[in-house]
Amino acid sequence: MTRISQKVPSLWLAALLSLLLFAGCATLQTTFAPAPPLVNQYGTPVPPLPALDAAQAARGKQIYQANCARCHGENGVGDPNWKIPDANLNYPPPPHNDAGHTWHHSDRVLYEAIRDGLRDPLKPNSELRMPAFGNTLNDADINALLAYFKSLWTTEHREFQYLRTTEDAIEHPTPAP
Ligand code: HEC
Repeated sequence: MTRISQKVPSLWLAALLSLLLFAGCATLQTTFAPAPPLVNQYGTPVPPLPALDAAQAARGKQIYQANCARCHGENGVGDPNWKIPDANLNYPPPPHNDAGHTWHHSDRVLYEAIRDGLRDPLKPNSELRMPAFGNTLNDADINALLAYFKSLWTTEHREFQYLRTTEDAIEHPTPAP
């Protein structure tokens, strides 16, 4: 009897200590474990999200305010009615911040939209709804605009857009029909 009652507290103590040790290790692991590597939808691991160049983004903001804000709104908030299509089912200029869908598109798609403008895809000869800036803005200007847009996004949205960009740049076979 005496032997058992003496043993019980030490067993409890051992159990408590191992629990603390386990919890400690788990916390350490979550604190210091490196973020899981990014993998795009083709299963290709990609380097970590590149850091933004703050000076480039600031220049992009100036270019934006001078050329784009009149349609897309100050600070990329979009036309107040951007979700309401007109009589021809065309949508007003969308936001470029997290609320819009600019972050759904790869760098190439966004670059080309700014350089070449956008028209109704179902009407190839119709006039441009979004003007082309290829004659007024150079390569560095357009890249600065992209950096500015990225500065408006959450890390989650930036990662999403970055992955789309890496997929766009990678040669991959056309999926079988
Ligand atoms: C005259 C108004 C107008 C100006 C100025 C304008 N845009 Fe647009 N933009 C539009 C419209 C309208 C759309 C939507 C086109 C559509 O959906 O068919 C659009 C769409 C876009 C898109 C595609 C967004 C998406 O999520 O699909 C990008 C990127 C864009 N604009 C960037 C710019 C930039 C950068 C500038 C300035 C250099 C600019 N726009 C200036 C009207 C404008």
